[in-house]
Amino acid sequence: MDDKRTLLEIADKVAIVTLNAPERRNAIDRAMVDALHADLSRLETVPDLAAVVITGAGDKAFAAGADIAQLKERTARDAAAAINSTLFKRVEEFPLPVIAAVRGFCLGGGCELAIACDLRIAGHSAKFGQPEVTLGIIPAAGGTYRLPRLIGLGRARELVYTGRILDATEAERIGLVNRVVADAEVLDAAVALAREIAHNGALAVRAAKAAMNALARPNEALALTLESSLQAVLFDSADKHARMQAFLDKKQKKS
Ligand code: COA
Repeated sequence: MDDKRTLLEIADKVAIVTLNAPERRNAIDRAMVDALHADLSRLETVPDLAAVVITGAGDKAFAAGADIAQLKERTARDAAAAINSTLFKRVEEFPLPVIAAVRGFCLGGGCELAIACDLRIAGHSAKFGQPEVTLGIIPAAGGTYRLPRLIGLGRARELVYTGRILDATEAERIGLVNRVVADAEVLDAAVALAREIAHNGALAVRAAKAAMNALARPNEALALTLESSLQAVLFDSADKHARMQAFLDKKQKKS
């Protein structure tokens, strides 16, 4: 595996951050979380940057969720540390628009990352879902808070309770993504959108994001704390361990 969990390019006011573990469907492990924090810290210092695009390496996934082997070992203490939640909150709070360019699987923490972004462009191959309950946990990196606000409470409940996976057309229909394009055009479409934003007043775009963030998030701190607290209980449950072990056993049988 390439050691670099993310790749970062910056050209003409637009940064592209690529989640880089394609052979593991860009599953988000601790090293990737750290790499993304480092990228955001660097991007905060780039003068004249107008927008950021986040995408996944390879054509199979944006990100198939948090790393299940690591999740299985996480305890109540880790839930309280809110490892992924803190990162996704930072993405949401990033002063410039962040656009997710999604091909393939966008599940669990991958979907939570995509919905923490300002905008989402999907390829026809994109598949979205919050399958956490199938693993005995909940989408606790902001998913239970952000998803209902994006697609409505009824639809969010159905997705979160069933763990069902939606294709790109359905995701567009319910407002989970802004636009669906051919897979080969996803990154170009996201960069074109970033460039369209880059033509506008830099201060005005920042102000618009800050205003929409502030006004659209009642009780966010309380909601995120509640999510982490509930996850803390689930992280130590026998059901979670059994379900995650079943995923890992399936993988061992394959090899
Ligand atoms: N965590 C850790 N490893 C993961 C992973 C995850 N979330 N998602 C995929 N991988 C790994 C697989 O274990 C496999 O590893 P291996 O090659 O060492 O066996 C590799 O990525 C490829 O995955 P595979 O399942 O063979 O690919 P696929 O194309 O048949 O299926 C998925 C893709 C995404 C449907 C399937 O990998 C999956 O269900 N992943 C878990 C999704 C999930 O529940 N995410 C929420 C976590 S909270």
